[in-house]
Amino acid sequence: MSGPRRKRSRIQKRPGITRRSFLKGLGIGTASVGGLSLLQGCGSDNDSTTATDNRTTPSDNTPTQNVQFLHSIASGDPAFDSVVLWTRITPENTNRTVAGRVDVFKDEALTMFVKSMDFQTTAAQDFTVKLICNGLEQDTVYFYQFRSNGKTSPVGRTRTTPAAGNKRPLNFGVVSCSSLAHGFFNAYAKLAERDDIDAIIHLGDYIYEYGNGQYGNVREYEPATEIITLSDYRTRHAQYKRDEDLQKLHQRFPFITIWDDHESTNNSYRDGAENHTEGAEGVWEERKGFAQRAYDEWMPIRLPEPGNRAKIFRRVQFGDMVDMFMLDTRLFDRDLEAATPINPTDGVSSQPDRTMIGEEQYNFLINGMRASQAQWKLIGNQVVFHQWIIKPGLNNPAPAQLGELLAPSGLNGDAWDGYSAERQRIINALRGDDGGEAINNVVILTGDVHTAWVADITDNPNQPIDAVGGYNPITGQGSVATEFVVTSVTSPGLDLPNQIIQAIRLTSPHIKHVNVTERGYSVLRVAEDKTTCEYWAVSTILERGGSETLSATFEVADGANRITPQGIYPVDVVTGLLGV
Ligand SMILES: [Fe+2]
Repeated sequence: MSGPRRKRSRIQKRPGITRRSFLKGLGIGTASVGGLSLLQGCGSDNDSTTATDNRTTPSDNTPTQNVQFLHSIASGDPAFDSVVLWTRITPENTNRTVAGRVDVFKDEALTMFVKSMDFQTTAAQDFTVKLICNGLEQDTVYFYQFRSNGKTSPVGRTRTTPAAGNKRPLNFGVVSCSSLAHGFFNAYAKLAERDDIDAIIHLGDYIYEYGNGQYGNVREYEPATEIITLSDYRTRHAQYKRDEDLQKLHQRFPFITIWDDHESTNNSYRDGAENHTEGAEGVWEERKGFAQRAYDEWMPIRLPEPGNRAKIFRRVQFGDMVDMFMLDTRLFDRDLEAATPINPTDGVSSQPDRTMIGEEQYNFLINGMRASQAQWKLIGNQVVFHQWIIKPGLNNPAPAQLGELLAPSGLNGDAWDGYSAERQRIINALRGDDGGEAINNVVILTGDVHTAWVADITDNPNQPIDAVGGYNPITGQGSVATEFVVTSVTSPGLDLPNQIIQAIRLTSPHIKHVNVTERGYSVLRVAEDKTTCEYWAVSTILERGGSETLSATFEVADGANRITPQGIYPVDVVTGLLGV
């Protein structure tokens, strides 16, 4: 999401840093930047699948130096027979290789030994450890603990996915946008208290790049300034991984993550970013590489092409119930965004060749969904897919801001509204208008805008004639898919007056729910008869703790491709406009 529009004079700069001097300062040779493959280099599977607990003879039992597990543990990208296990060692001597082992069990008391895997890690990967634990049973809970130099990590719990043929109901925690400077991650803590979650879907903005005072002031950042170098990105990831509430959630469930913009910098795209000044802040390709490298090192992500940190869009399968398509709508191949609000007369947002995801990723998505055997296709998306529309003359009286926001073709150039031709291409494919078969039961999960939105996906929400791609706002007829935009963990909501929101809804009848004030998380429950999205709101982010409430629940019935209507639209719009 657009963070604060940058006031460049307030940003602390690092003038005069050349690529050579800044790499030298990091102690990194040019050839090594971005060239390491963490998955290949950080450990090996000793394949101890014989259930022989050999914990008494590991090489790490003889301490060679003092180490700590300050950043806890994590798991991610589960498959039916494997899962990524992650930790980070903090060694006393950063010049030496650190060895250790992870042990995997079937019980929390760590008595039912399954297997162990040895690892080595060095400063080259910032002493992070990432192992793919293979040979596991489908749909099974496992517990794991890392050891090194006589020290043990916290115990983690994770779970493999159901295998093909398995169609049990699934529950996912869905989160996005955790600005540490804006407060405490109570949403993560509340989600960690649940027992019924199969995996956490994190839609991005897991970290934020800003320095102190630039975006939020409840907690201070490490480093104190905007993150630009590889060392900066690693330090910020390390700070997040020391947050006790985030640690709780990582310890309970596997994460399936994708980056949005703030894992690199605000409103980033393939060739640059709003919050990047070429030259003064280095070379974009290098900065992007630093962000991607730190992300790979510090997140429990399984790269679809080992060694290629620039490509993270991937599919995660949950038996015959769910195929999850995690998209990269930022760095892989995105063109520069259109201006916000979109200017309907300049034609930029609707240019036919503008791309958000690029041809390779489009084919991955559409061909993958079309070939999928799963009942539900979830798309892990970052920026809002459905249209935000305000038309002139329909809102009375209009606040002054409305005049600036009148945009019949969309409001947010950073979202899919700014890439409308590619969005239409996807909608056409879902309907089967591209020569292929129609694709049903597609649910788009979105973050980025720090607010909750529920919408039908249709060509033109204001066209009432079904035969020409129209949409019935009462029944949802004409919708081809649905979208649940989850609110943020802490990041601030849209600074839009209620009247603007109501004006959007008045001419956007495909939008079924809006909440711009609550922070929290969602639980997505996927079953054979329906998919349900619960919106949970936390009572505070200004201190650790507090309570939570169920704010809203919306459903999609199997095969309907539309939000199940609740009441008669647009009652809340009318009451809102009347001030009731
Ligand atoms: Fe965000």
